[in-house]
Amino acid sequence: MGKPLIVTIDGPAGVGKSTMAKQLAGHLSIPYLDTGAMFRSIAWKLGDGAWDWDKDRIQMTLDGMNFGLSGIGEDSVLTLNNTPVGSEIRTEQVGMWASNIATLPVIRTFLKTAQQNLGEKFSLVAEGRDMGTVIFPGAPHKFFLDASVEERANRRFKQLSSMNKPADFDELKDQISKRDHQDRNRVVAPLKAADDAITIDSTEMNKEQVFTVLKDGVA
Ligand code: DC
Repeated sequence: MGKPLIVTIDGPAGVGKSTMAKQLAGHLSIPYLDTGAMFRSIAWKLGDGAWDWDKDRIQMTLDGMNFGLSGIGEDSVLTLNNTPVGSEIRTEQVGMWASNIATLPVIRTFLKTAQQNLGEKFSLVAEGRDMGTVIFPGAPHKFFLDASVEERANRRFKQLSSMNKPADFDELKDQISKRDHQDRNRVVAPLKAADDAITIDSTEMNKEQVFTVLKDGVA
Protein backbone atom coordinates (compact mmCIF):
# COMPACT_ATOMS: atom_id res chain seq x y z
CA MET A 1 0.00 0.00 0.00
CA GLY A 2 1.29 3.51 -0.89
CA LYS A 3 1.66 6.46 1.43
CA PRO A 4 -1.71 7.95 2.50
CA LEU A 5 -2.94 10.98 0.53
CA ILE A 6 -3.56 14.04 2.71
CA VAL A 7 -5.65 17.05 1.63
CA THR A 8 -5.93 19.93 4.11
CA ILE A 9 -8.71 22.51 4.40
CA ASP A 10 -8.22 25.29 6.95
CA GLY A 11 -10.29 28.37 7.63
CA PRO A 12 -12.28 30.38 10.18
CA ALA A 13 -15.49 29.42 12.01
CA GLY A 14 -18.66 28.98 9.96
CA VAL A 15 -17.04 29.14 6.53
CA GLY A 16 -18.36 25.73 5.41
CA LYS A 17 -15.17 23.68 5.78
CA SER A 18 -17.00 20.59 7.04
CA THR A 19 -19.52 20.53 4.21
CA MET A 20 -16.77 20.92 1.61
CA ALA A 21 -14.38 18.50 3.30
CA LYS A 22 -17.06 15.78 3.48
CA GLN A 23 -17.96 16.27 -0.17
CA LEU A 24 -14.34 16.22 -1.30
CA ALA A 25 -13.62 13.14 0.80
CA GLY A 26 -16.62 11.42 -0.82
CA HIS A 27 -15.33 12.40 -4.25
CA LEU A 28 -11.90 10.94 -3.42
CA SER A 29 -13.39 7.92 -1.56
CA ILE A 30 -11.31 8.59 1.54
CA PRO A 31 -12.18 9.48 5.18
CA TYR A 32 -12.79 13.02 6.33
CA LEU A 33 -11.28 14.24 9.61
CA ASP A 34 -13.08 17.03 11.47
CA THR A 35 -10.36 18.24 13.86
CA GLY A 36 -12.67 20.91 15.32
CA ALA A 37 -14.78 17.99 16.58
CA MET A 38 -11.70 16.66 18.41
CA PHE A 39 -11.19 20.00 20.20
CA ARG A 40 -14.95 20.21 20.87
CA SER A 41 -15.10 16.68 22.31
CA ILE A 42 -12.28 17.41 24.71
CA ALA A 43 -13.83 20.76 25.69
CA TRP A 44 -17.15 19.01 26.33
CA LYS A 45 -15.53 16.29 28.47
CA LEU A 46 -13.46 18.77 30.51
CA GLY A 47 -16.37 21.20 30.93
CA ASP A 48 -16.65 24.92 31.60
CA GLY A 49 -13.53 26.69 32.88
CA ALA A 50 -11.09 23.83 32.18
CA TRP A 51 -8.77 26.26 30.34
CA ASP A 52 -7.73 27.54 33.80
CA TRP A 53 -6.86 24.09 35.17
CA ASP A 54 -3.24 23.18 35.75
CA LYS A 55 -1.46 21.25 33.05
CA ASP A 56 -1.16 17.96 34.99
CA ARG A 57 -4.87 17.79 35.71
CA ILE A 58 -5.65 18.27 32.00
CA GLN A 59 -2.98 15.74 30.99
CA MET A 60 -4.50 13.12 33.29
CA THR A 61 -7.86 13.46 31.53
CA LEU A 62 -6.24 13.41 28.09
CA ASP A 63 -4.41 10.18 28.94
CA GLY A 64 -7.78 8.39 29.05
CA MET A 65 -8.85 9.65 25.60
CA ASN A 66 -8.41 7.73 22.40
CA PHE A 67 -9.69 9.03 19.04
CA GLY A 68 -10.52 6.73 16.15
CA LEU A 69 -11.93 7.08 12.64
CA SER A 70 -14.02 4.80 10.44
CA GLY A 71 -15.96 5.08 7.18
CA ILE A 72 -15.36 7.33 4.18
CA GLY A 73 -16.72 10.62 2.83
CA GLU A 74 -20.05 11.72 4.34
CA ASP A 75 -20.12 8.48 6.32
CA SER A 76 -16.83 9.11 8.14
CA VAL A 77 -17.29 8.64 11.87
CA LEU A 78 -14.99 10.15 14.50
CA THR A 79 -14.98 8.15 17.72
CA LEU A 80 -13.74 8.95 21.20
CA ASN A 81 -12.99 5.81 23.20
CA ASN A 82 -14.87 3.76 20.59
CA THR A 83 -18.06 5.85 20.86
CA PRO A 84 -19.06 8.15 17.97
CA VAL A 85 -18.86 11.82 19.01
CA GLY A 86 -22.40 13.16 19.44
CA SER A 87 -24.36 16.25 18.46
CA GLU A 88 -24.01 17.75 21.96
CA ILE A 89 -20.67 19.25 20.88
CA ARG A 90 -22.26 21.23 18.01
CA THR A 91 -23.28 24.38 19.87
CA GLU A 92 -21.68 27.84 19.66
CA GLN A 93 -20.94 27.61 23.39
CA VAL A 94 -18.97 24.37 23.03
CA GLY A 95 -17.27 25.97 19.99
CA MET A 96 -16.10 28.80 22.23
CA TRP A 97 -14.93 26.38 24.94
CA ALA A 98 -13.05 24.50 22.21
CA SER A 99 -11.42 27.73 21.07
CA ASN A 100 -10.45 28.46 24.69
CA ILE A 101 -8.78 25.11 25.33
CA ALA A 102 -7.20 25.23 21.86
CA THR A 103 -4.86 27.95 23.15
CA LEU A 104 -3.24 25.45 25.57
CA PRO A 105 -0.03 23.72 24.40
CA VAL A 106 -0.88 20.56 26.43
CA ILE A 107 -4.06 20.10 24.39
CA ARG A 108 -2.47 20.95 21.03
CA THR A 109 0.45 18.57 21.60
CA PHE A 110 -1.93 15.74 22.49
CA LEU A 111 -4.12 16.33 19.42
CA LYS A 112 -1.15 16.83 17.12
CA THR A 113 -0.02 13.27 17.91
CA ALA A 114 -3.56 11.89 17.56
CA GLN A 115 -4.12 13.65 14.21
CA GLN A 116 -0.75 12.70 12.77
CA ASN A 117 -1.29 9.07 13.83
CA LEU A 118 -4.59 9.03 11.93
CA GLY A 119 -2.79 10.55 8.93
CA GLU A 120 -0.24 7.71 9.01
CA LYS A 121 -3.03 5.14 8.95
CA PHE A 122 -5.55 6.71 6.55
CA SER A 123 -5.72 8.95 3.52
CA LEU A 124 -7.63 12.02 4.74
CA VAL A 125 -9.33 15.24 3.91
CA ALA A 126 -8.40 16.96 7.17
CA GLU A 127 -10.12 20.21 8.11
CA GLY A 128 -9.35 22.64 10.92
CA ARG A 129 -7.20 25.68 11.64
CA ASP A 130 -3.61 24.39 11.47
CA MET A 131 -3.79 21.37 9.17
CA GLY A 132 -1.67 22.84 6.39
CA THR A 133 0.70 24.82 8.62
CA VAL A 134 1.48 22.51 11.57
CA ILE A 135 -0.11 19.06 11.42
CA PHE A 136 0.43 18.09 7.77
CA PRO A 137 2.93 20.62 6.40
CA GLY A 138 3.99 18.16 3.68
CA ALA A 139 0.45 17.59 2.33
CA PRO A 140 0.38 17.82 -1.47
CA HIS A 141 -2.96 19.67 -1.59
CA LYS A 142 -3.77 22.53 0.78
CA PHE A 143 -6.72 24.90 0.78
CA PHE A 144 -7.65 27.90 2.90
CA LEU A 145 -11.35 28.65 2.81
CA ASP A 146 -12.40 32.17 3.78
CA ALA A 147 -15.50 34.42 3.75
CA SER A 148 -16.51 37.72 5.36
CA VAL A 149 -17.81 37.51 8.92
CA GLU A 150 -21.21 38.86 7.78
CA GLU A 151 -21.55 36.11 5.19
CA ARG A 152 -20.54 33.42 7.69
CA ALA A 153 -23.04 34.69 10.28
CA ASN A 154 -25.65 34.80 7.54
CA ARG A 155 -25.02 31.18 6.52
CA ARG A 156 -25.19 30.04 10.13
CA PHE A 157 -28.38 32.04 10.66
CA LYS A 158 -30.05 30.42 7.64
CA GLN A 159 -28.87 26.96 8.73
CA LEU A 160 -30.32 27.37 12.26
CA SER A 161 -33.55 28.90 10.94
CA SER A 162 -34.02 26.00 8.51
CA MET A 163 -33.78 23.64 11.50
CA ASN A 164 -36.35 25.78 13.38
CA LYS A 165 -33.72 26.62 15.98
CA PRO A 166 -33.66 30.08 17.60
CA ALA A 167 -31.06 32.38 15.99
CA ASP A 168 -30.04 36.00 16.39
CA PHE A 169 -27.92 37.37 13.54
CA ASP A 170 -26.05 39.99 15.62
CA GLU A 171 -25.31 37.50 18.37
CA LEU A 172 -24.03 34.95 15.85
CA LYS A 173 -21.82 37.58 14.21
CA ASP A 174 -20.44 38.57 17.59
CA GLN A 175 -19.74 34.94 18.61
CA ILE A 176 -18.03 34.18 15.30
CA SER A 177 -15.90 37.36 15.49
CA LYS A 178 -14.77 36.57 19.05
CA ARG A 179 -13.80 33.01 18.14
CA ASP A 180 -11.96 34.19 15.00
CA HIS A 181 -10.02 36.74 16.97
CA GLN A 182 -8.93 34.17 19.55
CA ASP A 183 -8.10 31.52 16.90
CA ARG A 184 -6.06 33.94 14.75
CA ASN A 185 -4.15 35.51 17.63
CA ARG A 186 -3.17 32.60 19.84
CA VAL A 187 0.56 31.95 20.27
CA VAL A 188 0.55 28.24 19.34
CA ALA A 189 -0.61 27.18 15.86
CA PRO A 190 -2.79 30.23 15.08
CA LEU A 191 -5.33 30.13 12.28
CA LYS A 192 -3.58 31.14 9.06
CA ALA A 193 -3.12 29.97 5.50
CA ALA A 194 -0.05 27.87 4.72
CA ASP A 195 2.27 29.64 2.25
CA ASP A 196 1.54 26.96 -0.33
CA ALA A 197 -2.25 26.82 0.22
CA ILE A 198 -4.81 27.81 -2.41
CA THR A 199 -6.97 30.49 -0.77
CA ILE A 200 -10.64 30.55 -1.74
CA ASP A 201 -12.69 33.57 -0.71
CA SER A 202 -16.18 32.10 -0.84
CA THR A 203 -18.06 35.27 0.20
CA GLU A 204 -19.63 35.57 -3.25
CA MET A 205 -19.53 31.92 -4.25
CA ASN A 206 -22.06 29.13 -3.94
CA LYS A 207 -21.23 25.60 -2.74
CA GLU A 208 -20.94 24.20 -6.27
CA GLN A 209 -18.43 26.87 -7.26
CA VAL A 210 -16.29 26.24 -4.16
CA PHE A 211 -16.41 22.50 -4.70
CA THR A 212 -15.29 22.91 -8.32
CA VAL A 213 -12.14 24.77 -7.15
CA LEU A 214 -11.40 22.01 -4.61
CA LYS A 215 -12.03 19.19 -7.07
CA ASP A 216 -9.89 20.81 -9.76
CA GLY A 217 -7.18 21.50 -7.20
CA VAL A 218 -6.76 17.83 -6.31
CA ALA A 219 -7.17 16.49 -9.87
O1 DC B 1 -14.03 23.98 13.35
P1 DC B 1 -14.77 24.12 14.71
O2 DC B 1 -15.65 25.34 14.75
O3 DC B 1 -15.51 22.89 15.06
O4 DC B 1 -13.59 24.31 15.79
C1 DC B 1 -13.85 24.61 17.14
C2 DC B 1 -12.65 25.29 17.76
O5 DC B 1 -11.57 24.34 17.88
C3 DC B 1 -12.06 26.45 16.97
O6 DC B 1 -12.67 27.68 17.26
C4 DC B 1 -10.60 26.43 17.36
C5 DC B 1 -10.32 24.98 17.66
N1 DC B 1 -9.60 24.30 16.59
C6 DC B 1 -8.24 24.49 16.52
O7 DC B 1 -7.68 25.26 17.30
N2 DC B 1 -7.50 23.83 15.61
C7 DC B 1 -8.09 22.98 14.74
N3 DC B 1 -7.33 22.33 13.86
C8 DC B 1 -9.49 22.80 14.76
C9 DC B 1 -10.23 23.49 15.69
